[in-house]
Amino acid sequence: MNNKIKDLLSKLTLEEKAGLCSGKDFWRTKPVERLGIPSVMVSDGPSGLRTQFDNGVDENDSRPAVSFPSGCATASSFDRSLLRHLGEILGEEANNYNVSTVLGPAINIKRSPLCGRNFEYLSEDPYVSGELGAAYISGVQSKNVGTSVKHFAANNQETNRFSVSEEVDERTLREIYLPGFETCVKKSAPTTIMCSYNAINGELSSQNKWLLKDLLRDEWGYKGMVVSDWGAVYNRVKGIKADLSLEMPYSGGHTDNDIVEAVKSGELTMEELDEAVSHVLEMVLNYTEHKQSGVFDMEKDHAASAKIAEESCVLLKNENCLLPLKAPAEKILFTGCFAENPRYGGGGSSKIKCYKMTSAIDAAREAGLNVKYVKGYNDDFVTTSPALTAEAEQAAREADTVVVFAGLPESFESEGADRTSLDMPQVQNELIEKLAAVNPHIVVVLHNGAPVTMPWVDKVAAILECYLGGENIGTAQINILFGKTNPSGKLAETFPLRLEDTPCYLTYPGNGRTCHYTEGIFVGYRWYDSRKMPVLFPFGHGLSYTSFEYSDLKLSKTAFEDSEGVDVSVTVKNTGDLEGKEIIQLYVSDKTGVEIRPEKELKGFEKISLKPGESKKVTFKLDQRSFAYWNTDTKEWYAPSGNYIISIGASSRDIRLTAEVDVTSSGKKAFTITPQTTMGDMLRNREMAALIHDDYMKARKFLDDMTDEEFEAKFPFPKEGMLGMILSNPFRSNRGRDGKTMEDILKQVEDYNKALEK
Ligand code: BGC
Repeated sequence: MNNKIKDLLSKLTLEEKAGLCSGKDFWRTKPVERLGIPSVMVSDGPSGLRTQFDNGVDENDSRPAVSFPSGCATASSFDRSLLRHLGEILGEEANNYNVSTVLGPAINIKRSPLCGRNFEYLSEDPYVSGELGAAYISGVQSKNVGTSVKHFAANNQETNRFSVSEEVDERTLREIYLPGFETCVKKSAPTTIMCSYNAINGELSSQNKWLLKDLLRDEWGYKGMVVSDWGAVYNRVKGIKADLSLEMPYSGGHTDNDIVEAVKSGELTMEELDEAVSHVLEMVLNYTEHKQSGVFDMEKDHAASAKIAEESCVLLKNENCLLPLKAPAEKILFTGCFAENPRYGGGGSSKIKCYKMTSAIDAAREAGLNVKYVKGYNDDFVTTSPALTAEAEQAAREADTVVVFAGLPESFESEGADRTSLDMPQVQNELIEKLAAVNPHIVVVLHNGAPVTMPWVDKVAAILECYLGGENIGTAQINILFGKTNPSGKLAETFPLRLEDTPCYLTYPGNGRTCHYTEGIFVGYRWYDSRKMPVLFPFGHGLSYTSFEYSDLKLSKTAFEDSEGVDVSVTVKNTGDLEGKEIIQLYVSDKTGVEIRPEKELKGFEKISLKPGESKKVTFKLDQRSFAYWNTDTKEWYAPSGNYIISIGASSRDIRLTAEVDVTSSGKKAFTITPQTTMGDMLRNREMAALIHDDYMKARKFLDDMTDEEFEAKFPFPKEGMLGMILSNPFRSNRGRDGKTMEDILKQVEDYNKALEK
């Protein structure tokens, strides 16, 4: 705490301090004029500014700002520098509007594709969410504007989001739902973190001491301020004690009074309140005392929005290289209202009153392209008429290539509610099928914030996933469709074949009061790949107009201690005729058998640009954490000794190169040995196996010394069965054997545990 803040704390009255812990209105903090403490404004976030003129929430009351591609899209870029660049632009826009904090990035894990807010979130994978979230934060904060990484934590559904308790086991929280936030905190120090509405295992995040204080503050070393999600506060005093500094929005004075009363009664100490106030003051003063001037060239940012979208669109399918379109040689038909009215952003708090919108039709016109357009279905995206269908069919017959613009209307996915189906509006699916029946050259261009089913997937030649691509998505679409830009995005989430295949199908979104995460760590590709399930499009998938060859996988060493880590390199060559970008993915698979692990987990990615014929070496650094799981027994990240496979892939289902490594664990203890532990449990772990090596050899010898016939004459089961029995005997069952007492067994167990201490 700096001297200025200490001085202010000494001068503020109890009532003023309590007042600083909640908003002045919907978007501003309270000032204390007599001490020169200003009020600052915050604004949504995350893919453009939603800065309000007044105190309201009315979208039309927002200042115009540039709408950039949503998180679902930008994550598909897998490009840290792009996310940083987006952050820098938002930081500049924020300075121009005097916005102290941009309420983003939103990095919750996409547990189910049904979550109504997935369009805002980045990925089903915590490594991707953390890396890209951290890059965005660094960009915004480089302009001295704050960020608010949200929603901490486990806000993975919109159904009953204000009250539901997400019931998640410790390992799943640590491995799936928390690491994205941890990476943001450790790499980019976000000025604020927004706590989620929901409860975790029965305790609301806004008053969850384990979450906000023990984990975030004490374990991860977070130095910034925790702000509530808007209206997330229930017990304000408990919240202060748990380290929730600022309640947003205004509380009508009620919770300020609660704080004052709690200090007077001794329930809350002045130190606890000072801690909260100091974080609010730091946030306010950091912004106002180092304020940078903002450049806000909307035209420039509009162009940047298209560039970001171009990096984010994912070419899912391109049979016989139908794309890029050949203009003016081909007769091209555009159909589907999204072509003139694209869905470019999500609904709810991230809805932006955009500066201007460029559709594919606008962009084609600007580029002087001769493209015919018929609507295909009604402007509402969900109804049609026989005349519209007939017109589209006739036009499709006459065209060389048909581009159908399809996707989800806003009513199908938004903040505040979950989807109930993965399907697109029926009229759109029907239109695609009908046009595919009259023309084999169908390209589908999609506008959606989350995966959809594609009953027509085998009947169309090409699919371009544009997600919610921001206000200039039309320019990006035209540049990609006509080959000015080579697509380079890849999916940061799996597209399942059916809703019934999704990992939490049976439990999502719970019974209203609770939602049990029974699928545990098996989220996204961790589920589909471990179960070897067919999917529509796998995690990490995305095509290019060129092709890439992977070779020369090299490791700095093949056997090492986990704490040393390892350097991995691979050479990637552009083997096609066009310049293009490739996203190279590194996955780690644990083959030690010590704990239940996903088939593989992403631990590195890089995006590189290559000219035709050019090769580049890509390098990755793996550390202890890359191999580790969260050990609930020892409460630490633990990488068991043994073999691991390092895979380099173009997607989670397109692994090009693999190598095996042998890791020696710096932590020896996979679990605490008790009289209930079996020899088999210990054998699976290298350090533990060493402790019982002699006993195990004795057991083996006993079996090996007998022929199968001798064995079967003596025992009523085969030898292998006997070995299994020996291995599954807990130590306690040795009581009485060779005169062993329970004390002897307890002593032996204690000795084993001692031997495993670091
Ligand atoms: C949303 C937040 C948002 C806030 C302010 C809440 O309902 O969950 O993400 O930042 O409103 O608009």
